[in-house]
Amino acid sequence: MKFNILTLFPGFFNLLDDYGVIGRAIEKKVIEINKINIRDFSTDKHKRVDDELYGGGAGMLMTPQPLYDSIKSVKKEGVPVIYLSPQGRVLNQKLCNELSKLDEMTLLCGHYEGIDSRITDEFVDMEISIGDYCLSGGEIGALVLIDSVSRLVKGVLGNEESPITDSHYNFLLQHNIYTRPREFMGYKVPEVLFSGNHKLIEEWKEESALENTKKKRPDIYKIYLEKHGPNKGF
Ligand SMILES: C[S@@+](CC[C@H](N)C(=O)[O-])C[C@H]1O[C@@H](n2cnc3c(N)ncnc32)[C@H](O)[C@@H]1O
Repeated sequence: MKFNILTLFPGFFNLLDDYGVIGRAIEKKVIEINKINIRDFSTDKHKRVDDELYGGGAGMLMTPQPLYDSIKSVKKEGVPVIYLSPQGRVLNQKLCNELSKLDEMTLLCGHYEGIDSRITDEFVDMEISIGDYCLSGGEIGALVLIDSVSRLVKGVLGNEESPITDSHYNFLLQHNIYTRPREFMGYKVPEVLFSGNHKLIEEWKEESALENTKKKRPDIYKIYLEKHGPNKGF
């Protein structure tokens, strides 16, 4: 999967190269990060990319020309231009799954007060937000999207790893998880996990997942109950 990243801070994305499974996927060429500096496209003699807002207002806005030309440099049929924006559809596992089916996408990172609305209206296919709060730039949002989408791409996680038991993949949160030692400061790992009885272990995992979801994310648990009825819950 290829990510074209349109940004004023291409160096920001270098950290992905050394970042666990994503770094390894970049090395194996399963994931490609194509960093494009929007400023390189500015035709302004001082390479300016921002200007004051028409109609007044605090701060500066990214001007349309460098944005348009940088988008044009990677524009291809079937490759959506996604603007990381607090006004976008909020990223969740369902959207990550949808995006993981793409071969390539372009991520546009805004700064200052954001980008000229003519770019958003005419040249952006989709706006995605990473949550209902305002960041100072789109780069952190792009990193979140790249990480959460890439781990769903075949070949990114190792053979022993799988995203399907992770929280949110199947809507619920994950069950409790434990490793050595069997007892830590008097706190014990549930006995059932040593029983060797796969059916019992699977039932325990399902119950633990439901319990976690009910306790930590009652909003998700409520939707789950509405879909599956009260009998499967507690
Ligand atoms: C200070 S924000 C601009 C916000 C804009 N004035 C507004 O109110 O919609 C600067 C940049 O940060 C990014 N950004 C801010 N919040 C974000 C969020 N929740 N998700 C993704 N990107 C975000 C966008 O790329 C945006 O252009």
